Amino acid sequence: MEIKEYVKERKAYLTDLINHLPVPPKLVIIQVNEDEASMAYIRGKIKDLSTINANYEHIKLPLDISEEALLSVIEQYNHDETVDGILVQMPLPKGIDEEKVKEAVTPLKDVDGFHPLSSYIPCTPKGIIDYLENEKIEFSGKNAVVIGRSNIVGKPMAKLLLNKNCNVTVLHSKTTKEDMAFYLKHADIVVVAVGRKYFIDEQELKKSAVIVDVGINRVDGILYGDCRPNLDVKLQTPVPGGVGLLTRLSMLENLILCYKKRRGLKDEF
Ligand code: GUN
Repeated sequence: MEIKEYVKERKAYLTDLINHLPVPPKLVIIQVNEDEASMAYIRGKIKDLSTINANYEHIKLPLDISEEALLSVIEQYNHDETVDGILVQMPLPKGIDEEKVKEAVTPLKDVDGFHPLSSYIPCTPKGIIDYLENEKIEFSGKNAVVIGRSNIVGKPMAKLLLNKNCNVTVLHSKTTKEDMAFYLKHADIVVVAVGRKYFIDEQELKKSAVIVDVGINRVDGILYGDCRPNLDVKLQTPVPGGVGLLTRLSMLENLILCYKKRRGLKDEF
């Protein structure tokens, strides 16, 4: 099923689920920047929340806010019983320690899955696994290659694939071209999170491979993935209209999981 279709179905399901709850879940979005990309992300999140009938509060804080003041705002929402999830939009202004902020959000309301002790899976890896499962992709004993080792995509992605019994290889900026080609040639599942337009282009791939493109590269106002479109493989996620939609969906699911966990309800759908 195409990602657009899959996300539409899941959102319809979440809307129905929320319509049967006594009160809808509520997300607080804290914004301390004015960059275009963040504004676009937040607009997308607000649109999604409205679509599924969830509540939200969008708080814009001054760019010159101190770290201490931001932490105290987060603390206030950690204790606010009407709030189920807290999302602090990254990046934060220079001088504010992002790691400290990520750790300030209580793990119980951490919809991003950023906290080291979070009960929730970071949105991008979660969205990818859920989608591949829905596509009935086999994991056990398969060669999975993750390119990129960030804390929010590469590392958690590798862990999830390992938990699904894949043979996992994590490649990164220090991997040689020769080794990259070797691992790609043998890969059944490739997750590419490099941040370079068409990083995967002419390399040899299995025709049966599944390629997940996490890249969002804006060049002259046009969005490109990390992979050339129409590779000769079994499944390739598009950009745009691919992993970005899955990430947004996962945030909604994590919000509902927060809502349920806080109320001692069974945290599954
Ligand atoms: N900035 C870019 N993407 C994200 C995201 O998924 N969550 C947060 N909190 N900030 C972001």
